[in-house]
Amino acid sequence: MKVLITGGCGFLGVNTCEYFQNLGWNVTALDNLTTYEMNKSGYKNPEARVYTYNYLKTLGIDVLIGDIRNEQFMKKLKSKDFDYIINCAAQPTMTLAIENPVLDMQVNIAGVINVLELGRRLDIPVTLCSSIHVYGNKLNQNLKETETRFMSVPESIDENEPILTGDITPLHVSKRAMELYGLCYTNTYGLKVGIFRFTGLYGPMQLAGAHHGWVSNFIIRTLLHLPITIFGSDKQVRDILYVTDASRVFQKFYEHSVPGIYNTGGGIESAVSLGETLSFIAQTTGVKQEIILKPARFGDLHYFVCNIDKAKSQLYWEPLVKPTEGLTLTMNWIKKHLDLFEGMK
Ligand SMILES: NC(=O)c1ccc[n+]([C@@H]2O[C@H](COP(=O)([O-])OP(=O)(O)OC[C@H]3O[C@@H](n4cnc5c(N)ncnc54)[C@H](O)[C@@H]3O)[C@@H](O)[C@H]2O)c1
Repeated sequence: MKVLITGGCGFLGVNTCEYFQNLGWNVTALDNLTTYEMNKSGYKNPEARVYTYNYLKTLGIDVLIGDIRNEQFMKKLKSKDFDYIINCAAQPTMTLAIENPVLDMQVNIAGVINVLELGRRLDIPVTLCSSIHVYGNKLNQNLKETETRFMSVPESIDENEPILTGDITPLHVSKRAMELYGLCYTNTYGLKVGIFRFTGLYGPMQLAGAHHGWVSNFIIRTLLHLPITIFGSDKQVRDILYVTDASRVFQKFYEHSVPGIYNTGGGIESAVSLGETLSFIAQTTGVKQEIILKPARFGDLHYFVCNIDKAKSQLYWEPLVKPTEGLTLTMNWIKKHLDLFEGMK
């Protein structure tokens, strides 16, 4: 079986390439190796951007350097006999979408249509990565507080929750438009499209900065003895999801092929607050962090825990890696690769 993984040199992409190769699939990665986010995240080591590319090469995985926005390039891929497309290529961050809404739209909407078109021409299933941000931050208004975290009733949120409530940033629009195109390709062309509203993902090979990937960012900065900025409150909560569990949902979608939208997170058992995560990292590494508190950022969602019943019942998927195990694996990887982060501000 042959899978095309776009954004294959990104965090989710590279882990998913390795995951599918381990399943015995023939994997092709596609990536434009953008440095847009990394340049803004204080990365000084040029090796950091090509780390995942080189890693895929050591695994013997083909990497096509190309851009999903390039219609001609994408059309040429029709000659390949892929069985499945997993689209991880994206402009993934809210802050950078606010800064550059045109780039955000071009990648997350126009680029994704080229990917769906490829799926339509080859008549193969396609998965798209959405985000729990599509729900919007009106959810912030009904939170209660315990000593260490915000709480919500109900504790977990399913796909029937109203979307686009509260502040609407360009990322909300591009992710929702992408979802609608996914639903439309299923409805109009019968394409099997799986749309995953991911919560906060974490794991090895996440070259995280201030804009996305907070779990890895906290670990990197702790180990480098750099101050850590919290926007808003350290009581913010996410049901963090270890990256191989995210890759496995793509496998389950291929096997069960029930098109639609799925909330995809660690669920109630993996709900953690920022402060609890920082404490766990401090205890495990023995490093006391310097925390800087700044006001909440526009559009931020202060609580989200996925109700994952739909993915469980339709795709027979559930997360397997608990936060203590996943955080330890992530810390071990970052410790071994600290040179990639040298010189970070
Ligand atoms: N990481 C998370 O916590 C998280 C949470 C929710 C949703 N998601 C979604 O999962 C997906 C993957 O996220 P990630 O964390 O791996 O992001 P990432 O930034 O690490 O990876 C994205 C990859 O896409 C590539 N890319 C960007 N524009 C491209 C283009 N025009 N053509 C080809 N390649 C291009 C980049 O070079 C990069 O390697 C995104 O859609 C993101 O919104 C991620």
